Amino acid sequence: GVCAPATATFSIRINAGRSPDCVLPAMFDADPQFRADVLSGLAGPRRAIPARWFYDERGSELFDEITRLPEYYPTRTETALLAQCRADVAQRVGPGTAVIEFGAGSATKTPLLLEAVAPAAYVPIDISGDYLRDAAAALQVNFPLLSVIPIEADFTEAMTLPATVDDMPRLGFFPGSTIGNFIPRSAVNFLRHIRDVLGEGAQLLIGFDRIKPVDILIAAYDDAAGVTAAFNLNLLERINRELDGNIPVNAFAHRAVWNDAEARIEMHLEALQDISFEVAGQRFNMAAGETIHTENSHKYDLRGLRLLLRAGGWTPVVDYSDAGDWFTLVLAQAAPYHRAP
Ligand code: AVJ
Repeated sequence: GVCAPATATFSIRINAGRSPDCVLPAMFDADPQFRADVLSGLAGPRRAIPARWFYDERGSELFDEITRLPEYYPTRTETALLAQCRADVAQRVGPGTAVIEFGAGSATKTPLLLEAVAPAAYVPIDISGDYLRDAAAALQVNFPLLSVIPIEADFTEAMTLPATVDDMPRLGFFPGSTIGNFIPRSAVNFLRHIRDVLGEGAQLLIGFDRIKPVDILIAAYDDAAGVTAAFNLNLLERINRELDGNIPVNAFAHRAVWNDAEARIEMHLEALQDISFEVAGQRFNMAAGETIHTENSHKYDLRGLRLLLRAGGWTPVVDYSDAGDWFTLVLAQAAPYHRAP
């Protein structure tokens, strides 16, 4: 009974809503951080735009489609793994926790975890308020007695957990190998940050995509149906839509490459000819063959992911992998700040 009102009471909006009858030109309506990231990212000589900007409405739809592709193994591998390990996780975690999810939650993975763990509260944190509220409301229908408290925020930035969860043990949930989008230095900063947010005694269930044969990795990021290509190219469409751009999208091609030294898949947008375009009143020139780097997706071996967790203030307790070692879920414990020697 208390759940639906709690959703409304505790939802925190960082960005003001847009007026439906707003008549300002598109670029004045755009997220200033998006504008800044695109303008500095296109300036070169090594052009790069942060991967978080993929996820406008169209981008989120396309990502959803990616998770169902035959070549994109991570989602279904992690989901099957979670179905297998969740009873063990629940036993180690105990009932009555607050589950804090970094991201709005997936329609299949989150219920699998919540059913097993039987938490007292569920706190999804996501930057996209509309998506977050829809996901939280849909989840509440299936867990009517659970206190669902969505927080609209950038989960890499400072935040305070709702007072409701103050006295509950905490379980962080960060599935999908989203950690792989961070370069190692940023991944460590992020892990330390969520360790500080979740506090002493917290546990974390986190997903890592594993290093595997390159042809399998490449296929997962360059599928035959071209959905990942459309996902990558949608970033240019979004720039044109929201930042008053005239980028010739057809003059770009999707590229997925394995960077072995960094153990990561990189996505790029490659100019197929010399091109010149404008974004937000600024002119950019690219020569044929030049690329815009749009995503890193790091892959890990067991020692690498354990080292990353320890560097980020988390002690691995148990890890769960599928038979092919394609994906690993780790349950970790917040490390004490000081320990001898
Ligand atoms: C959501 C970041 C985990 O890196 O596999 C999928 C995003 N990019 N296909 C990934 C993505 C291209 C995905 N993550």
